[in-house]
Amino acid sequence: MQYKLINNLEYIEITNKAASAKIALQGAHIFHYQRVGEAPLLWLSEISEYKKGKAIRGGVPICWPSFGNNNPQLPQHGFARVMMWRCDKVDEIDPYTTKVTFSLQDSQESRVLWDYIFQVKYVITIGKTLHLELQTTNLDTKPFTLSQAFHTYFQISSIEDVFIEGLEEKTYLDALTLKSELQDGSITFNGEVDRVYQGVDDEIILNDAKHQVHIQNSGSKSVVVWNPWIKKCASMSAMQPEAYKEFVCIESANAYEDKRELQPQSSHTLKAVLI
Ligand code: BG6
Repeated sequence: MQYKLINNLEYIEITNKAASAKIALQGAHIFHYQRVGEAPLLWLSEISEYKKGKAIRGGVPICWPSFGNNNPQLPQHGFARVMMWRCDKVDEIDPYTTKVTFSLQDSQESRVLWDYIFQVKYVITIGKTLHLELQTTNLDTKPFTLSQAFHTYFQISSIEDVFIEGLEEKTYLDALTLKSELQDGSITFNGEVDRVYQGVDDEIILNDAKHQVHIQNSGSKSVVVWNPWIKKCASMSAMQPEAYKEFVCIESANAYEDKRELQPQSSHTLKAVLI
């Protein structure tokens, strides 16, 4: 396999007749996906650092084995996003579809943080649509709790244009107030939003002035919607002060009430299809 370098990070580049993509080995982090003839689907910060041990700001960071601070003993969003993954294979299914398989296993480094034996397999299918499939297997003799997310940053025309459908009448935990609320109508933005929606059972539709994205999740009943708005954006690493206007995160998740308990020798798969 031929790896390219961006600063000090190795990545693989996929180009087929339907789309192109770039995936860093650190975090198995897809930081570029673009369909032929269209603008990039994923937002990527112009000032992302591409440094060892730091998550790329944009694309699809993987939050694993803990979303946010669900496990307070772990770093925010876990550690998989800054670990080195192995690229096992690249399969050209047909001229329009390429499947890339990554894996991550426990190591001395992971066991210091989280003392479990595990295997994670991540299959990214790049074509007219983008498929993400993350399978976690517990290889330990004791059960573990898993919370996780595809922390997808979507490129948008402007945050003021955005409305999100598919979460109407769902309850959410508002991470800003720690209160449980009920979603009234579609989601629009005029301030910081940081919410974990529960009981999600339908596709999510992201609309802006230029396009529509359909997000179909399986193995998941929770979705995180996040935009930092002005103040938080200005204080965040690897983000320009005006960046909050250019992206929204809609994260396919197993978070809070939707965290999963994995018994020894059992697996759970989180899947998202972006159409
Ligand atoms: C979101 C969280 O998923 O990720 C936010 O809900 C958090 O609270 C954001 O600020 C970004 O996190 P990080 O660790 O990538 O800066």
